[in-house]
Amino acid sequence: MSHADDHAGTRRDFLYYATAGAGVVATGAAVWPLVNQMNPSADTRALASIFVDVSGVAVGTQLTVKWLGKPVFIRRRTPEEIQAARDTALTDLPDGNGENANRPDADAADANRALDEAGEWLVMMGVCTHLGCVPLGNAGDFGGWFCPCHGSHYDTAGRIRKGPAPRNLPVPVAAFTDATTIKLG
Ligand code: FES
Repeated sequence: MSHADDHAGTRRDFLYYATAGAGVVATGAAVWPLVNQMNPSADTRALASIFVDVSGVAVGTQLTVKWLGKPVFIRRRTPEEIQAARDTALTDLPDGNGENANRPDADAADANRALDEAGEWLVMMGVCTHLGCVPLGNAGDFGGWFCPCHGSHYDTAGRIRKGPAPRNLPVPVAAFTDATTIKLG
């Protein structure tokens, strides 16, 4: 047996014993780091990030992607949509919180919800904050999204304006990694 084979065998044994140990040993300082590494939640965390190519998204259209089992709206807003969102007074908003995971303490001003400084890109969970329906785009009294389930109207920044939904559509952790790629998570 070569040295490499020997090493591979040792590694298999190590993994075997580590796995067996995780099931048998309930506590023990030496075991915990191994258990943590093998915990499925570590895999889930690794898969929690996805990269979305937005090069094909034209101004005034929306891409919906499924992420962590839920729809995410990626909208490339028109100048009019941006202006409408930026002209809205904070006092007109039922939910004054930005609901943006990237800026946890920021208020609901449009600039605090858009992904880029110019405000062209808006990324949000496509799940109504009332009871979880998927709102329709380009709809409702405020030109943003409308949830037909019980009549919630969201504006062009995805902020709740009218109806039973209590909160703005949440903005998930997101960032541009290059000019045409958005990373979610
Ligand atoms: S689930 Fe959207 S208004 Fe009720």
